[in-house]
Amino acid sequence: MKKLTGRKKTKTAVFISGTGSNLKNLIKFSKIKNSPISIDLIISDTNKATGLKYAKQFDIKKKIFNFNNVKINESKILTIIKKKKIKFICLAGFMKILSKSFLKKFDGKIINIHPSLLPKYKGLNTHERAIKNKDKFAGCTVHYVTSKLDSGRIILQKKIKVSKRDNPKTLAKKVLKQEYKLYRAAIIKIF
Ligand code: GRF
Repeated sequence: MKKLTGRKKTKTAVFISGTGSNLKNLIKFSKIKNSPISIDLIISDTNKATGLKYAKQFDIKKKIFNFNNVKINESKILTIIKKKKIKFICLAGFMKILSKSFLKKFDGKIINIHPSLLPKYKGLNTHERAIKNKDKFAGCTVHYVTSKLDSGRIILQKKIKVSKRDNPKTLAKKVLKQEYKLYRAAIIKIF
């Protein structure tokens, strides 16, 4: 990633599928004077993503693509990304797999947050698995996105203790709190 010079923020798109609390965190972060990014586009694969409300709240353009036809949707996304001069993408609870050709175009410029200490627990239900396995530690990871699920180079990781009283829900809450800090720190690290 090119070092940021001057005060110009890198135009960024955030992809979501759900509640978008990480999106909200990134928007708030982007508004800090020294933040290297501005959030200029929100993309979702479903109009049911409640996080889409932040588009209106923060006056950011949003687009919904159902991804039934990945190729067509990705080419539409590329068009709008080009139009809006987006140079960086953050995935935040985005549940669709992007194609190899799409990812190639954003090599080193697309990152994701995952609620586990990767490479442990790729995919879904990370907290359930951690509790079931009686793990002593859990956490979250920010990593580059490649065509292999949750496998790109790790940028930063945060480890937290799992308490004996934790269940998947309480653990998710604890980890999510750390996700907000980690996502900011990871972006600062790579710019
Ligand atoms: C987060 O735990 C994120 O790490 C995972 O999905 C969750 C999304 O939460 N990929 P939110 O939509 O950002 O609130």
